[in-house]
Amino acid sequence: MSSKSEERIAISCDHRGVELKESLLELFRDEFTFEDMGTFDENTSVDYPDYASRLAHQMAEGKLKRGILICGTGVGMSIVANKFPGIRAVLVADPYTARMAREHNDANVLVLGGRVLGVGLASEIVRIWLTTSFAGGRHQHRLEKLSAIEKKLYK
Ligand code: RB5
Repeated sequence: MSSKSEERIAISCDHRGVELKESLLELFRDEFTFEDMGTFDENTSVDYPDYASRLAHQMAEGKLKRGILICGTGVGMSIVANKFPGIRAVLVADPYTARMAREHNDANVLVLGGRVLGVGLASEIVRIWLTTSFAGGRHQHRLEKLSAIEKKLYK
């Protein structure tokens, strides 16, 4: 039996993502530790910028290293998260992109569309994304170029 990872993985959603978030937490709770940053009620409409920015802010401050965001399409959460320095958020809807986003882009935030993906596909994507390492090598200097762009823009 494999031991549970101690890294806390941030997870957050708006009202459109509550159902998928709850399913994923249930499916992965024996293997991974999650920091559930809400929202919790699918019947109360909330604004995705509030939830994406709270998670991204914690990550930008170095309190958490990886996060999962869910809204209806995943689009709004992606737009917000990628405004934060150091965040590489990817909206993923297929297993191949999940793997490449880790191996090539070292994506640290996975974004899912709660109204786009079924639980089966979403959980396959999450598993791949959580267990695939950055490949480094030729991809490393591309990430360094990303950091250089951020430094220039946000100095
Ligand atoms: C909420 O109605 C919806 O706009 C949101 O969940 C998300 O899909 C936005 O990108």
